[in-house]
Amino acid sequence: MPPMRILLINGPNLNTLGTREPHIYGKMTLPEIEGAVAARAAALGAETRAFQANSEGALIDWLQQEQSGADGVVINAGALTHYGVALRDAIAACDMPVIEVHISNVWKREAFRHESLLSPVVAGAIVGLGTQGYLLAVDALVPLIEAAKQR
Ligand code: DQA
Repeated sequence: MPPMRILLINGPNLNTLGTREPHIYGKMTLPEIEGAVAARAAALGAETRAFQANSEGALIDWLQQEQSGADGVVINAGALTHYGVALRDAIAACDMPVIEVHISNVWKREAFRHESLLSPVVAGAIVGLGTQGYLLAVDALVPLIEAAKQR
């Protein structure tokens, strides 16, 4: 059986992790996060493909291109979480489990961060646990993928 494939998607401004407001987002860079996610996934029998873009269209194009060979998604959509209707529609159309990640606790922050367009169309969300949230998302996603494959 080919290994499970997990798509790791990061939205606007997450390419600057490490230097972007480190008191909020920590010091890990995006390449470090992508490496840690790949290692955690590999330990659980999955491979990852990672992508980051600052524009909604680029994220949707990549997701549409990659989804046929994929089994699950971990996504931090950044600010698009709060207003990206087209990205929300692309995620809703994915026939596989999706976990939403936010590094910061959006509930403790500005009111405009309290709405997520993605949350109603994903399996679950990991919020406010720092960059380790990406690893927790992989831990949560793998059994969901296994369950989906049994269907
Ligand atoms: C974020 C929270 C969003 O509100 C913000 O726009 C981001 C990052 C997080 O990971 O905490 O870019 O998704």
